[in-house]
Amino acid sequence: MKAVFQARYGPPEMLEVRDVATPVVGDEEVLVRVHAASLHPDVWHVVRGRPFVLRLMGAGFARPGNPIPGTDMAGVVESVGSSVTRFGLGDAVFGETVAGHQWTNGGAFAEFVAVHQDQLAVKPAGVTFEEAAAVPSSGLIVLQNLRGPHSGRPVQTALVNGAGGGVGALALQILKSRGSRVTAVDVAGKLEMLRALGADEAIDGMREDFTRRQVRYDLIVDVPGNHPARSCRRALNPDGRYVLIGHENYGASGRPVFGLIPRFLGLMLLSRFVKQFRGPDLPMPTKKEAMAALGDLLENGAITPVIDSSFRLAEVREAFRHLVEDELHGKVILTPLNAG
Ligand SMILES: NC(=O)c1ccc[n+]([C@@H]2O[C@H](COP(=O)([O-])OP(=O)(O)OC[C@H]3O[C@@H](n4cnc5c(N)ncnc54)[C@H](OP(=O)(O)O)[C@@H]3O)[C@@H](O)[C@H]2O)c1
Repeated sequence: MKAVFQARYGPPEMLEVRDVATPVVGDEEVLVRVHAASLHPDVWHVVRGRPFVLRLMGAGFARPGNPIPGTDMAGVVESVGSSVTRFGLGDAVFGETVAGHQWTNGGAFAEFVAVHQDQLAVKPAGVTFEEAAAVPSSGLIVLQNLRGPHSGRPVQTALVNGAGGGVGALALQILKSRGSRVTAVDVAGKLEMLRALGADEAIDGMREDFTRRQVRYDLIVDVPGNHPARSCRRALNPDGRYVLIGHENYGASGRPVFGLIPRFLGLMLLSRFVKQFRGPDLPMPTKKEAMAALGDLLENGAITPVIDSSFRLAEVREAFRHLVEDELHGKVILTPLNAG
């Protein structure tokens, strides 16, 4: 099969499409013919091997353990392992190809990928493969981060900073589907898109500092993390909650060794004293549960993924350049079916 191949860590310009062996499925695995896969910042991190700590967290120390990047995809079941019960040949599915966190290559940028059945869900019929491929990692991050005390009762008012990105656009729509009034913050060019996605209010984060508006929210979901957490507390109700997602701007934030890990650890430590910061002890949904929930949200129209552009597998370098350098209005998609 054809696959994007990463022999070493480095700039996306060193990626190439190669002929490699088609994966062999394990007992619990499904072989998926990939119709669409999506890019996101963590795929770039693993290609780049930065922050360095990801090499100690399973990605591979000297070179990537799995040389085929990509974690998010949608496609059609080509074959199944002997113990697979949830899917059959010809089913349209979508999912995240990595079992754990997103800082490892998952082999999605290929014509075929083998995935554990519990990391997949049925693709709803009214949703395109591109739309479904846009959802898994971003959606899982949202569901994992919206857990906790707020998940059982409606959040009356929420602010999503970076709402025009992969995680933010889904956070905005999921919060709207739960009945919240949502203020969306992003760059000026995305505000119209945010209103179309259901934002009650859209703010240009470059012109206006939401932490100084004298408006308080029950929840702040912060993707760029461009304000200190103590400033964000000014915009929270006393029993509100601050959730940092974090973004390293493709290395521009200048933390090449540990990335944002120290900042997360600091927040976790402070959560013992500041109840608006979340502690480490909240139960996490499993990937199987979260993928099923994302399938339902797609099926009932609560989330509508936005696609920015599609590239062929052979155009993977251009796709990464677009991801890193341009203002995106939705997800960047690779279409291995057009591998040629
Ligand atoms: N916390 C967790 O549980 C967890 C787990 C896994 C991964 N992650 C991290 O989650 C992040 C996912 O990001 P994503 O896919 O949503 O990224 P994304 O698609 O790049 O979205 C980020 C958005 O924020 C906007 N933005 C940049 N600076 C801003 C500012 N100052 N004010 C307001 N908006 C601003 C960006 O606009 P432009 O396009 O103009 O830059 C973009 O629309 C990754 O960095 C990943 O490492 C977190």
